[in-house]
Amino acid sequence: MPTRHDAVEVILAKRDRHELTDSQIDWVIDAYTRGDVADEQMAALAMAVLLNGMNRREISRWTGAMIASGERMDFSSLSRPTADKHSTGGVGDKITLPLAPLVAACGVAVPQLSGRGLGHTGGTLDKLESIPGWRAALSNEEMLAQLESVGAVICAAGDGLAPADKKLYALRDVTGTVEAIPLIASSIMSKKIAEGTGALVLDVKVGTGAFMKSLDSARELAETMVALGQDAGVHTVALLTDMSTPLGLTAGNAVEVQESVDVLAGGGPADVVELTLALAREMLAGAGRTDVDPAEVLASGRAMDAWKAMIRAQDGDPDAALPQARESHVVTAPSSGVLTRLDAMAVGLAAWRLGAGRARKEDPVQAGAGVVWHARPGDPVTAGQPLFTLLTDEAERFDRALASLEGGYDVAPEGTPFTPGPIVIDRVS
Ligand code: URA
Repeated sequence: MPTRHDAVEVILAKRDRHELTDSQIDWVIDAYTRGDVADEQMAALAMAVLLNGMNRREISRWTGAMIASGERMDFSSLSRPTADKHSTGGVGDKITLPLAPLVAACGVAVPQLSGRGLGHTGGTLDKLESIPGWRAALSNEEMLAQLESVGAVICAAGDGLAPADKKLYALRDVTGTVEAIPLIASSIMSKKIAEGTGALVLDVKVGTGAFMKSLDSARELAETMVALGQDAGVHTVALLTDMSTPLGLTAGNAVEVQESVDVLAGGGPADVVELTLALAREMLAGAGRTDVDPAEVLASGRAMDAWKAMIRAQDGDPDAALPQARESHVVTAPSSGVLTRLDAMAVGLAAWRLGAGRARKEDPVQAGAGVVWHARPGDPVTAGQPLFTLLTDEAERFDRALASLEGGYDVAPEGTPFTPGPIVIDRVS
């Protein structure tokens, strides 16, 4: 039991820019989890952290206290090494779907505890739930058995894992305190360290559609998380990747599953393939398997076999038709030329407003809703050609979705020189 402190004393310390002691941190996280520190007190402390920051020792202790608030999983009994990936969240970010079976097919087990979408960024579980029959909730025993037999699991994190973070994240969400780097880093890393993966690759998104809008803040988040992982004995690296443009050609649930299946079948958009392979290489290297080439495994069809096995193991039917939206609306190109900008936030908001995402945790999502875009920055477009197809079950949603796309893209005159930026911007290790 941590030494007793007083919540107001801890809040005042951080408000007045002092370092919190190990003992204060251990106590406040434990007492908040048990309900002895009230939500309004924790909200005040989170705001003080947002404004005044925490140093590396404080962040590391805070993360440790959140891990200690729940159970730790253990995959050491598996016959192969483990590696996981975490993305800080973006638009059209379906990479986990092809990546987990690909890495499994390369001989490394992937325990992916995923979340649902909130706001404009999509959630992996929401996407997979558009597959008929697929089930997100697995017991720890089921997860371990599937990791041994199939090599990949994507499922919901159980309530036992870092319960302090579950409570604190929900509170930050409604108190304007999500965007604090120490809080984001400790939130993500407490779950990943408690999950027990041997290696971890962080996909830290930067750009309009990401939490981190600037390269400097994305780098600071990446460096903070890599240090936390390494301090905990998890082989951790981060890639800083572009999220000013959405990934691939789709944002939504079923549409993103279809695009992922296209990648596993050897096709799919080039940027999705490139990022999937870049992250796979990092995961394999982290797990000590530099001898396997994920591009060869993808081309061989073995990743598709692993995908089907992974979906079937969770009661899904990988061959069933995916749900389709009842209504669609096409937006055409206003002029001929070159698409020079496609804003990730505009597309993410449109998909959300069409019903692909939720405003409150308890809201349902529409499996068929989303946005498909028919050109990416750098592509030539002709006046009148389809630029976007909006999909929803409720036609009354089109107006607000169209409003969010307004000003979200540029078509420059033909011949305008334009080179798209790189997807992988930097690497932090
Ligand atoms: N994802 C998390 O799990 N936690 C955060 O704080 C932000 C993104």
